[in-house]
Amino acid sequence: MSQHSSSTLVIPEVSAIPRHVAIIMDGNGRWASKRMMPRVAGHSEGLGAVRNIVQECRKFGVEYLTVFAFSSENWRRPPEEVGFLMKLFLKSLKGEVSRLAESDIALRLIGDLSRFDLAIQEMVEFSEDLTANCKGLTLTIAANYGGRWDILQAMRQCLAKNPNLKPEQVSEELLQPHLSMAYAPEPDLFIRTGGEQRVSNFLLWQLAYTELYFTDILWPDFDEQELHKAFEWFSQRERRFGRTSAQLATHKL
Ligand code: FPP
Repeated sequence: MSQHSSSTLVIPEVSAIPRHVAIIMDGNGRWASKRMMPRVAGHSEGLGAVRNIVQECRKFGVEYLTVFAFSSENWRRPPEEVGFLMKLFLKSLKGEVSRLAESDIALRLIGDLSRFDLAIQEMVEFSEDLTANCKGLTLTIAANYGGRWDILQAMRQCLAKNPNLKPEQVSEELLQPHLSMAYAPEPDLFIRTGGEQRVSNFLLWQLAYTELYFTDILWPDFDEQELHKAFEWFSQRERRFGRTSAQLATHKL
């Protein structure tokens, strides 16, 4: 069994500040279009919002922040936009990694990186190594990530490791350590900006019991105040993990 268990197996401790926040940063394109700017300008502005939210989460004692930067479906976008996002990704890794290390923030990437340029893959490895011992916050960037891909790659790894596995032996405990985010507890709070109310193939397995927060704010406008609103909303949720309210009251005593 890995360090962190699935919430379908173990009831985690609940606190007012989420330990793990997962974000779909949607609305960059619309933010730019509203200002008669090219869509890609919205992505550059979105990077500024990522910086602020990372530091604010660190300040609040959030332990894990996971952001969806590029989904496996995003390859379908116009080639110029994909190319721009790749350049922005590489530039931001190069520009930010030393600041992340200074702020005691560990960087991890999840997703199928094999489709990315070698320069990006090398920079990812360098950044992960440089920040590997940082303890303040773990920032995970999901790039060319898909929740279904994650479950499938975990299943393949699991079968490769246990070639004689019988169907009845397949369990959550056996699969979970092979998921991309096995190093982290499951997200407590999921935030999606930009008005859509979908999970869009993000952390499908890991979001099973996560509180889902949706806001119309476009990602470049998602600032510290907006994060506080999401935390405030989260602190008022009653997380039952399948139990009744009465059981929860007893558990809290
Ligand atoms: C969704 O907005 C956003 C993306 C596909 C890219 C997110 C990238 C960033 C915020 C900048 C880079 C971040 C890192 C961590 C390096 P959209 O384009 O779908 O917006 P729309 O729905 O208004 O079209």
